[in-house]
Amino acid sequence: MDPRTNPYAPGAGTPPPELAGRDELIEKAAVALDRIRNGLASKSLLMVGLRGVGKTVLLNRIQRDAEARGLVTIFLEAPEKRSLPALLAAPLRAALLKLDRLAAAGNLAQRALRVLGGFIGSMKLKYDDLEFGIDLGLEPGIADTGDLESDLSGLLQAVGEAARENETALVLFIDELQYVKEPQLAALITALHRCAQYQLPITLVGAGLPQLVGQTGRAKSYAERLFAFPEIGPLDPAAAEQALCAPALKLGVAFEQAALDEILRRTKAYPYFLQEWGKHSWDYAKQSPIILSDVVSATEQVIAELDGSFFRVRFDRLTPAEKRYLRAMATLGKGPHRSGDIAQVLGKEVRSVAPTRATLISKGMVYSPAHGDTSFTVPLFDEFMKRVMPDQ
Ligand SMILES: Nc1ncnc2c1ncn2[C@@H]1O[C@H](COP(=O)(O)OP(=O)(O)OP(=O)(O)O)[C@@H](O)[C@H]1O
Ligand SMILES: [Mg+2]
Repeated sequence: MDPRTNPYAPGAGTPPPELAGRDELIEKAAVALDRIRNGLASKSLLMVGLRGVGKTVLLNRIQRDAEARGLVTIFLEAPEKRSLPALLAAPLRAALLKLDRLAAAGNLAQRALRVLGGFIGSMKLKYDDLEFGIDLGLEPGIADTGDLESDLSGLLQAVGEAARENETALVLFIDELQYVKEPQLAALITALHRCAQYQLPITLVGAGLPQLVGQTGRAKSYAERLFAFPEIGPLDPAAAEQALCAPALKLGVAFEQAALDEILRRTKAYPYFLQEWGKHSWDYAKQSPIILSDVVSATEQVIAELDGSFFRVRFDRLTPAEKRYLRAMATLGKGPHRSGDIAQVLGKEVRSVAPTRATLISKGMVYSPAHGDTSFTVPLFDEFMKRVMPDQ
């Protein structure tokens, strides 16, 4: 069928034509944010899930809804190698300028801007990726000690007070939160905790890989009481069918049930893969309905494409030892696997391969769902490892 009208949207953070199966979570987030705006207690949301399950898309959607309800938001993605203060500075400044413009009376946004100025000045000495040309003024004695934990608390408190003055809330959306270094994550948690104690309307909606749960717990033991960790996973079968059928139906195109069954079997209902299979099955089909043989013909090309991009970019970042480790996991199957079993496949001692496992965790390739267990963070990566390293 016409590739020009193909509705599917495989990609990273690309809005899907139908955001299926997430209504409950979107509503839960809206309730939490509105409660926080009104000074009521609510846990911050940290959404956790594997690669390609739709975390970024959800963050964007929750942000857009929040903005539409008059909340002030900032969105940032934590890269592997940048400090949290450097990431926060510019977006926070923009949000505070917005609050300042909104302010009918009062001057707490102005004050928070000066606090930000002091914060940047004191943090510059520690984090050399922090640069800021504009002079924001200073608010001596607040957020300028040079200790991230207490300065970030002072800063977010000032920001929260400015938001409250304007009868709104400030929501920090942070994607890929697992890349924030643990001491910086701890400082962020402490700051949010402090703000929650003062019932200030400032909160975090974050997303990250499953290891984020353990990281926050290690950073601060009370994190579990401050955050809810909704697990974002594959869609249930009905939602997966809806993700495929609804966009097609709008264009007058249907799916044969056997075709849907085959896509669900192949994709295990993971959102990113649903978009890929939907896209290629559409392109293969001659007419509506899309039938099983279209899906079967498309599959070969989808896999070739995934192997050349989605899987490949991750594979290329690995050292030879890391590749061998993942290949050993793949030999054992989908996982999770015991460290001892993986070491055995490699013919090594658990101790000698532990550093490899650690770097794979910090690169976001695997995580530990339970003590001593290891799982892939990328769905279907086990099958890819067998294709790309067939003779191990
Ligand atoms: N609920 C959904 N229904 C249908 N498609 C979806 C849904 N959620 C996400 N998608 C699609 O899945 C793909 C991946 O989404 P997204 O980039 O948000 O995942 P992610 O969890 O952030 O992945 P990563 O961990 O790699 O950043 C996109 O192509 C998006 O359009
Ligand atoms: Mg993402």
